[in-house]
Order: sequence, then C-alpha cells, then structure tokens
Amino acid sequence: MKNLYLTPEEEQEAIKWAEDASWVEREDYNMDLEYLACVKDILDHKVFQSMDHYMQHGDTTCKAHCIKVSYLSYCICRKLGWEYKEAARAGLLHDFFLYDWHTHARETGERFHGFTHPRAALKNAVKHFDLTENEKDMILRHMWPLTPVPPKTKGGMVIIYADKLCGLVETTARIKRWILYGFGRKSAA
Ligand SMILES: [Fe+2]
Ligand SMILES: [Fe+2]
Repeated sequence: MKNLYLTPEEEQEAIKWAEDASWVEREDYNMDLEYLACVKDILDHKVFQSMDHYMQHGDTTCKAHCIKVSYLSYCICRKLGWEYKEAARAGLLHDFFLYDWHTHARETGERFHGFTHPRAALKNAVKHFDLTENEKDMILRHMWPLTPVPPKTKGGMVIIYADKLCGLVETTARIKRWILYGFGRKSAA
C-alpha cells in the first residue's frame, strides 16, 4: 500500500513503533485522553478484550494488532484533519471476526478468510456497538483492493494503509526474531 499520509521520516518512525508492541502491553494508549474519549466503550468491552485469545500476524494478537491499526489511523487522520474518531473506532473493530484464522479453514471448511472476514467483523461489531455508516464502511472495505469495492472515506483509506503497515511489520518482526534467535526457541518469543 503506497504511503500518501506520512513523510518518509514519519513512516520510519511508524515502522519502529509498530515493531515494538510493548506500549500496547503497557496500555500506554490510556494516557492519550483524547484518543480514549473516542474508543473507551470499545476498549473496555469484554468481547473486544477477548481478541487477546486469537493470534493475528506472527506473535501479535488480534487485540494488539487492532489497537495499533486504530491508533496509527487516529494519529494520521488527526494530523490531516480527516474523520479521526471514526477511523479510531473502525480501526479497533476492523478485524473483529472473533476466531483463530489459522485453524478456521480446517475447522469450518471456509477457506477464504481474506475475503470474508471484513463482513464477519462488521456483523460482530454492529451486534455489540453503535456505529456510524462511515465506521461500518471502513470495517467492510478494509481489505480493498483484495475485495473489489474501496472505502468511501479518506479515513477508510488510512485504515487500509495502517493495516498493511502493521501487518507487514508484525510478520517480519517475527521472522527477524527467528533469524536472530533460532526457530522454536522460547527466548525468541
Ligand atoms: Fe483484516
Ligand atoms: Fe488487520
């Protein structure tokens, strides 16, 4: 995904920030009260918290991945004067599909997670939260161009960028640790 939102220096910072999930584990985002005001109802919800049980990329959980995508999208949209509250909320819920996609195909026979999970995430999201039409669209369209219809909003495009950046960094960070510490060793985790 081409970066249209950050300077090259800012993008390097964002990559370093996405590689280090310790700020998510420490819940540092709780110190950003303006961000918290946008998303507290979602962050505090037990079903959202249950995403901690599902792995997403590498050794990053779905919950940590969604918080990163949400916070990066929020920061970019704030900087650019776009719909930052909706981007923050939809970022948290963009992968709210609530299953382990690594075993999903084996267990259900459903082999097209990449195409189908935005709709599953939206279905779960509207069951538990009040969402605007833009937020629904951002969740449903976040896999564009893999799925054919692009999002309607600039915030939706920012979520796509943040998702790709975080996903790539999370996957390659684990590969780097494997190379540095050796496959399967406990210390590599
Ligand atoms: Fe996704
Ligand atoms: Fe994602």
